[in-house]
Amino acid sequence: MSLDCSRSAQPQTALDMIPYMDAVRAVTGKMPEKPRCFVLTFGCQQNVADSEKLAGMAVDMGYQIIDIPEGADLILVNTCAIREHAEQKALSVVGQYKHLKEKNPALIIGICGCMVAQEHRREEIKKSYPYVSFVLCTSVLYRLPQYLAEVMEKGKRILRGEEEHTVAEGAPIRRESTYRASVSIMYGCNNFCSYCIVPYVRGRERSREPAAVIAEVKDLVARGYKDITLLGQNVNSYGKDRADGYAFPQLLADLDKIEGDYTLHFMTSHPKDATRELVDVMAASRHVAHSFHLPLQAGSDRILTLMNRHYDCAKYLDILDYMREKMPDIAVTSDIIVAFPTETEAEFEQTLAMLRRARFDMIYSFIYSPRKGTPAAKMEGQLPHSVSADRMGRLLALQNEIADAANSRLVGGTVRVISEGVSKNDASVYTGRTDQNKIVFFKEPVPEGEWAFVKIDRAAAFALYGTVEK
Ligand code: 5AD
Ligand code: SF4
Repeated sequence: MSLDCSRSAQPQTALDMIPYMDAVRAVTGKMPEKPRCFVLTFGCQQNVADSEKLAGMAVDMGYQIIDIPEGADLILVNTCAIREHAEQKALSVVGQYKHLKEKNPALIIGICGCMVAQEHRREEIKKSYPYVSFVLCTSVLYRLPQYLAEVMEKGKRILRGEEEHTVAEGAPIRRESTYRASVSIMYGCNNFCSYCIVPYVRGRERSREPAAVIAEVKDLVARGYKDITLLGQNVNSYGKDRADGYAFPQLLADLDKIEGDYTLHFMTSHPKDATRELVDVMAASRHVAHSFHLPLQAGSDRILTLMNRHYDCAKYLDILDYMREKMPDIAVTSDIIVAFPTETEAEFEQTLAMLRRARFDMIYSFIYSPRKGTPAAKMEGQLPHSVSADRMGRLLALQNEIADAANSRLVGGTVRVISEGVSKNDASVYTGRTDQNKIVFFKEPVPEGEWAFVKIDRAAAFALYGTVEK
């Protein structure tokens, strides 16, 4: 792969240790009047969090953030590489920006995120997207002002793939919401699941200092944030790169001590590191939501081994049962990949059987997508689209039944929700989310960001419907 991932750990960098502010000043001196920046995000919550940092830095440099690309002086496309489709969507959008560059030659377009960590994509951008000024990889995101200063001063394109094994503390964050926030607690992934591009594009695991995470969460709570999600590619592997043994359960317990009116979520967890100790901390906590996203990926032990997942179905069910024993109201969600190379019909049926046994509240399901440079892409036995589409259809139909039954059990009870305000699809109703992340619709107005207790009258596979209790 294109990136050198083998460098040893370096000390964490604070932004004041690098010429960040010098670059901000250099950019400020060269900008048009009232400069405007548009940030477009593809992919996961980590990318959404990264985009909030990109926007924060843009604001530091004097840009106003706008929500359409037309009229922008700077466009940042934050890309995802997890599946082929995500990359194609990003490239197609970048293609549409060509005419904006023709209208305004001073427009600067940068492509950030996972896609540009791959050498073949950078080559493609170099050749086929000559109006793109720079690419910026995830571990050096904080260099945005430096990249911009370089582009503006030298007028040259920057198409290098940079990776640093550091945690850059102190990047400004322009948060999209006033009540819901995510906090990245670690970056990268060491697991090399055989299908996955993430370890190649986001580098090795590095955890933030506990004190930095605790300070950030304290500050959010003090500012009135009510729903805080701790983020990491393998959030429950937090601390494995530390010498002192301070790990995710300790961090969660320490965060839970922060006084205030808030809920903590975390994602994504890896089953191999999902311990009873973590479940015990959750069950005893005051603020940690009873919700767990635990990707299973497949219900066949042979496929799990081929995927390099380091657990089997029995181990998965053991921790799942323990969670339900300690927190009977817990909502468990999962990721499933269908049609991994060589997956037989019988093995797919084992995935269906696991779904029936695990009774997930919700799943994210994916058709296996070969990623260049990963071991699975070179495996024999890649399956045709007809097989994957058929399996996906059957998986979704079964999960609908399971989710419907799980949600039906909530009818007649009362749930706490955080209001998301008027529904985007129907102005006559409000929506909110429970601590378990379930969507609830209700008629009574509850201002966005406020808690409410809702009695559930009706349930469907993807939503609950109820009445606000006074
Ligand atoms: N093909 C399909 N799904 C994938 N995922 C990761 N890589 C691939 C791939 N190559 C899914 C996994 C992971 C989720 C974020 O995306 O289920 O948990
Ligand atoms: Fe990808 Fe596996 Fe790492 Fe998750 S744990 S990011 S699926 S390699």
